[in-house]
Amino acid sequence: FGNNDHGIAGRARKYRVTLDPRMDSTSPTGEASVHDDAMKESALNATVYPPASFVNNAHVSSLKQYNDMYRESVDRPAKFWGKIADELYWHTPYDKSKPVHSFNFDVRKGPISISWFPGGKTNLCYNAVDRHAASDPKGTALLWEGNETNQDEVVTWAQLKERVCQLANYLRSVGVGKGDNVTIYLPMVPHLVISMLACARIGAVHSVVFAGFSADALASRLVDSKPKVVLTSTGTMRGAKPIPIKKVVDAGIKLSKDKGVHVERVVVYDHPALPLAQCNWDESIDANWSDVVDTQPKDSPVEWMDSEDPLFRLYTSGSTGTPKGVLHTTGGYMVGTYATFKYVFDHKPDDVFWCTADAGWITGHSYLAYGPLIAKAKCVVFEGVPTYPDAGRCWDIVDKYGVTVFYTAPTLIRSLIRFGDDVVNSRDLSTLRLLGSVGEPINPEAWKWYHEVVGKRKCPIVDTWWQTETGAHMITPLPGAFAQKPGSASRPFFGVVPTLVDSQTGKELPPGPGEGVLCIKGAWPSMMRTVAGNHQRFEETYFSTYPGFYFTGDGARRDEDGYFWITGRVDDVINVSGHRIGTAEVESALVEHDKCAEAAVVGYEHDIKGQAIYAFVVMKEGVEFTAEMKKELVMTVRSIVGAFAAPDTIHWCPTGLPKTRSGKIMRRILRKIAAHEEDGIGDTSTLADPAVVNTILEWRGN
Ligand code: WT7
Repeated sequence: FGNNDHGIAGRARKYRVTLDPRMDSTSPTGEASVHDDAMKESALNATVYPPASFVNNAHVSSLKQYNDMYRESVDRPAKFWGKIADELYWHTPYDKSKPVHSFNFDVRKGPISISWFPGGKTNLCYNAVDRHAASDPKGTALLWEGNETNQDEVVTWAQLKERVCQLANYLRSVGVGKGDNVTIYLPMVPHLVISMLACARIGAVHSVVFAGFSADALASRLVDSKPKVVLTSTGTMRGAKPIPIKKVVDAGIKLSKDKGVHVERVVVYDHPALPLAQCNWDESIDANWSDVVDTQPKDSPVEWMDSEDPLFRLYTSGSTGTPKGVLHTTGGYMVGTYATFKYVFDHKPDDVFWCTADAGWITGHSYLAYGPLIAKAKCVVFEGVPTYPDAGRCWDIVDKYGVTVFYTAPTLIRSLIRFGDDVVNSRDLSTLRLLGSVGEPINPEAWKWYHEVVGKRKCPIVDTWWQTETGAHMITPLPGAFAQKPGSASRPFFGVVPTLVDSQTGKELPPGPGEGVLCIKGAWPSMMRTVAGNHQRFEETYFSTYPGFYFTGDGARRDEDGYFWITGRVDDVINVSGHRIGTAEVESALVEHDKCAEAAVVGYEHDIKGQAIYAFVVMKEGVEFTAEMKKELVMTVRSIVGAFAAPDTIHWCPTGLPKTRSGKIMRRILRKIAAHEEDGIGDTSTLADPAVVNTILEWRGN
């Protein structure tokens, strides 16, 4: 970090709504204004108020109430978090005579450390499953919808508990216990959620790897976490496309074996998409889920975990190096996901909640699995894709299950807008009462469509900004408390103190309107505690750039109402369809191709995906750059990282990349070329060879 270009996504800037400073989002009394005609919306200031019907029943129903709660959460955290923690079960209550948290955010004062709820013992699985299985055994926990419209299954709380216990018993029987790592590579079947919960039950640390990652990517995660057991399936269907899941796992395990990591057991769910008989089978390692798990006793003791015992690791990309194992712990993550789920989604017992994210990402961890289950929400789990069998699938699912709260990514909204409003209007969406957005800035055009066509102007939209590292929502509207501005994640959640820092001076900006890099002051319960196995990397990545603050990697603007507008990453991370991809990962994949000498990857604006990947490549001496070569390079990235990381454009640089005299690639120039903003390339005099820029431009389209 340290270029002043920041790579701030141009699109976020472009989509900014100009706000009329005369129009405040709140009434003079500080109360969120409530309007009887359901919604007042001014195209002028683009401020949208929640309808009275929503506000009247909301957990937090005015700006004043939000302000009071926020103040308490920051000034008296023990009192604020104590009340929320008390809504959950603690086997041993945490020690209320001690401060509720302790932390050091300043590398100059010693190692970075964070801990919450000292001395407490609890269990995520017990809170997410056992409590509800006891109080409401026949109640619905999961509403699973398969890839095909005729595949579905209701899992009750009692059934969920039984299935979790069976897997817990199996894992224990093969020697997996507290602190052991388990890797999960499963499609969106109930087994995925069950696997996470079973690990939590016995204190094993799960590492879910999104089942779209390649064998190589899986292998590097296996090598890093060294699990005894991998939980997977034979295959899955994504729309019309069969995916051979176990084949990827077999290849991943073979690769990890070459690096000295021996997985002892692979437990395979026999998915109807691909019969087990058609899979390669190695008796010495593979086990059929139905033979070894479904035959286990249906009850199993809970391992009581300390607040700071690890719960899971989840790998995420950064600007440099290999993906990091973000480590989350028990007590804080539990309280943080529960609190945000309750308040941000304004949870009510009758809600049917649908988060479209795959559990392979943090959104799925916190808001498909833990948050909603702890809060006893009925959750839709969807294995298929939004456009199969047609583009109305999401709305069919809302209609079929009576979804009340729908949480998705802007990229999905943008991709569905193309199919027209009739696709939406032909389904009954009257049950919807709240909509959510996550993963990237939502452009106001998409926001408006989501609000009008999907939400029929009666559903507030919560644009939730957060990260794998933060564990839970950080900046987000509370839907009944104050007005939303399309494109703004709005105000901080309870206990979160965001601040803007000047990237040049490292100093905080004064309160009021401004723009800078987004940092967080002080610890919140659900934050990551370390990079698994590499605390130094944790400190360097998040706490060294701006000592004293947690550095998010995002840029942001704060407006006159104190609303935050996330402008995008300021580091070399690309956000493609809400998936975070490190440029370094794609670059190192490209140079794995034996004919590629060098590569530099940048993001550029894409109508549907938000950002797309643009790769500049230098080939080895004498290599001809052909259409075939392009394909090979794309295939190389697909197989090393995963299909979702495939470059959209490959641009040959016959005379090399633009580098400074010290050899640093000037990405600022590459970003301009990728964005077709040649006029904005600016000063090239510091380049070792300014002529390379012209050569690169000449070769556009080849
Ligand atoms: C990055 C984190 C945690 C959600 C899934 C992605 C971007 C996330 C928003 C939002 C603008 C957003 C940021 C952030 N991001 N939500 N509502 N508005 N940007 O998790 O893979 O850890 O990526 O996603 O750039 O740093 P992730």
